Amino acid sequence: MDGNGRWATQRGEPREAGHKAGSAAVRRVVRIARRLGISALTLYAFSEQNWARPKGEVEALMGLLEEFLRSEREEILENGIRLVAIGDLGRLPEHVRQALDPLARESHENEKMTLALALSYGAREEIAEVARALANEALRGAINPDAIDGALIGARIPSLSVGEPDLILRTGGEQRLSNFLLYGAAHAELFFCEKLWPDFHEPDLFDAIRSYQTRTKVFGTPSAERRRGT
Ligand code: FPP
Repeated sequence: MDGNGRWATQRGEPREAGHKAGSAAVRRVVRIARRLGISALTLYAFSEQNWARPKGEVEALMGLLEEFLRSEREEILENGIRLVAIGDLGRLPEHVRQALDPLARESHENEKMTLALALSYGAREEIAEVARALANEALRGAINPDAIDGALIGARIPSLSVGEPDLILRTGGEQRLSNFLLYGAAHAELFFCEKLWPDFHEPDLFDAIRSYQTRTKVFGTPSAERRRGT
């Protein structure tokens, strides 16, 4: 969800205003995704690297996150959405955890769609954490190191608990993954769009999905399944 800062700067407003408009885009896109029957949507809402931003901007983002969780709570529950969070959640401020944790618990059984928020998230950090855990298990003799393969690591990667991504979409013109879902990106289609995130609307999501459909030319088959072994 790139481009909030530039969106604000173009209007002569502080970056925080861009994040606020970005929050509104998040609400829009979650609603559309739910309506379309998308089974899982993972949003890169705050990266591990984002902690290095100015204190005021980090606080504004954390405030918007809390506001989103509180204001969308009812709609998330009523629409059968399961909310999960991935990343180094221990670094999040208490006020965010107080909104996040109960909603994750309450929505746990929901099955219509999974909304995964990547918070304080970094894909390399995520992979390192899994590697550390497996190394410790091997040291204890709980697993055989020779049994460690791509499937075993994949089964432990938290961001893949919602399934492998079919499509990874980045707004704002940059064509990089920036430490997002690196393990799961192995077979994903990538879509880069020039629009700044606050300007992202329904037709833009449709463009991305149409591009995905044209490229894969297979309808109704989950791509992770389709691509297994390719
Ligand atoms: C990148 O834009 C975006 C972020 C660092 C944060 C994304 C956050 C939101 C969309 C709002 C809060 C999230 C939720 C889930 C309610 P940038 O600031 O790097 O933009 P720039 O590249 O134009 O500077």
